[in-house]
Amino acid sequence: MQKVKFGVIGCGSIAEIAHFPSIKEIPEAELVAVCDTNEETAREAASKWKAKAYFTDYRKMLTRENLDAAIIATPNCFHRDQALAAAEAKVHVLVEKPMAITNKEAWDMVEGCKKAGIKLMVGCDRRFCIQNEYAKELVDQGVIGKVLMANAIMYEHWDLYQGSIAKTDFRLKGEKAGAAAVSDTGAHAIDLLTWLVGSEVKRVVGVAKRLAMPEDYTLLDDTVWILMEHKSGSYSCVTCNRFSRAAIQSTSLYGNEGSIMTSSDATTPFQTAPLAVFTDKDYNAEDLPRIIRDYRYPQLFWAEDLVNRPVSKRWVPIYPPRESNYARMIKHFVGCILEDKEPRVTGEDGAKAVEVMCAVFKSMETGGWVDLPLKEEVVPPYYEPQGR
Ligand SMILES: NC(=O)c1ccc[n+]([C@@H]2O[C@H](COP(=O)([O-])OP(=O)(O)OC[C@H]3O[C@@H](n4cnc5c(N)ncnc54)[C@H](O)[C@@H]3O)[C@@H](O)[C@H]2O)c1
Repeated sequence: MQKVKFGVIGCGSIAEIAHFPSIKEIPEAELVAVCDTNEETAREAASKWKAKAYFTDYRKMLTRENLDAAIIATPNCFHRDQALAAAEAKVHVLVEKPMAITNKEAWDMVEGCKKAGIKLMVGCDRRFCIQNEYAKELVDQGVIGKVLMANAIMYEHWDLYQGSIAKTDFRLKGEKAGAAAVSDTGAHAIDLLTWLVGSEVKRVVGVAKRLAMPEDYTLLDDTVWILMEHKSGSYSCVTCNRFSRAAIQSTSLYGNEGSIMTSSDATTPFQTAPLAVFTDKDYNAEDLPRIIRDYRYPQLFWAEDLVNRPVSKRWVPIYPPRESNYARMIKHFVGCILEDKEPRVTGEDGAKAVEVMCAVFKSMETGGWVDLPLKEEVVPPYYEPQGR
C-alpha cells in the first residue's frame, strides 16, 4: 500500500491530541520524523509515536527525511517560514490554524506552495465534524433556501485549554500568537461560518478587546465581535471570548426557507442535539433529503410522515455518529495527496480567514467597515513580523 510519509513540526498539545493519534490510525499514513525546538519534547514524541527520527531544526528534517507531507503545529509566528521551507523541499503542507498572523504572511504561503506545486491545507478541523458536514450538505441542497443571516459563537475560558493542556504559553504572547480570541478560537468560527454561508466575505467591521484578563496575564484580546458582509449580500456575525468557563461553540444559519443550528465542541442545555434543522419547504416523505429522512425517527413518529403530505414542518434534531474530526481531516488530506485532489480547506481559504482577522484590527483603527481583500499588510498591535 502506498503510504504518505509525515513529518510533524511542533510536538506540543495539538500534535499530541490530534495529529499523532490520527496518523497512527490511518493505514495510508506513516509518521517518519518529528521536530521540536525543545529536544526533550521531540525525543519523547518520537519514542511514544514511533517516529524513526527526531530533530530540533525543521529545515534539517525537511531536507533529510524524504517526506511527502509536513504538519505544522508550532506557534503562529513560525507558520509562514516553515511552510515556505516545506514548499522549497517539495513537501505537502497541513498547517494549523490560524494559518498565519498577517495577511501578507498568509498570501506568501499560498504563493510559495503554488509555485512549488505542493498542496497547502489549513487545519480547520471543525469542517470535519460530521454535524457540520451534514449542515453544509443541507445548505447546498437548498433545504433552508438562501442563507441571509448567520452567526458563530466560540466561548472558551483561557484555563480550559491554555491553562491546562497547552505545552507553552505562546498564546498569551503577542509576538508569537499575534492575537488571541480573534485568531485562536476566531479562526475556527470565521472559517466555519464562511464555508457554511457559502459566500466570500466582502467587508468587515469588528471589535477585539481585552476586557477580562489582567495585563500581567496577557495583553491580547479576550472579547471579540465581527460582523461580516458576504458577496451574496448576506450578513454573518462571529463572537468569541476567552473568559466564559461555560464553553459554547455553536453556529446558526437562517435562510429564507428554514434554519439550521449546529455545534461542534460543546452543547448547552438549550442545545439538546449537535445539529437541528427546520425547513419551510414542502416535502413528501419520499422526497425528504437523506439526512432529514434518516433522523426524523424517533422524535417524529414515522407514520405521520406517510399520512401527512407534505410532511409536518418541525425542528428535526440530529445526532450524527461521533468520530474524531482531526482524524477525519488528516484522512482527507492523505486522500488529497494520494489522489491528487484539492483539499477541502485550501490555502486561499486560510488566507481569506486571516484577512478577516486583520480587518478587525484595521476596523478598530478606522472605526468602520474594512473592504477585503486588504490593500496593505495589517499587523496586529502586539506583533512584529520576523526575519523580513
Ligand atoms: N485545530 C485546533 O483545534 C487547534 C488546537 C490547538 C492548537 N492549534 C494550533 O496549533 C499550533 C500549536 O498549538 P499548541 O496548542 O500545540 O501549542 P503548544 O504550546 O502546546 O506547543 C507548541 C510546540 O511547538 C514547539 N515549538 C516552538 N517553536 C518551534 C519551532 N520554531 N520549531 C519547532 N517547534 C517549535 C514548542 O516547543 C512546543 O512543544 C498553533 O498554531 C495553534 O493555534 C490548533
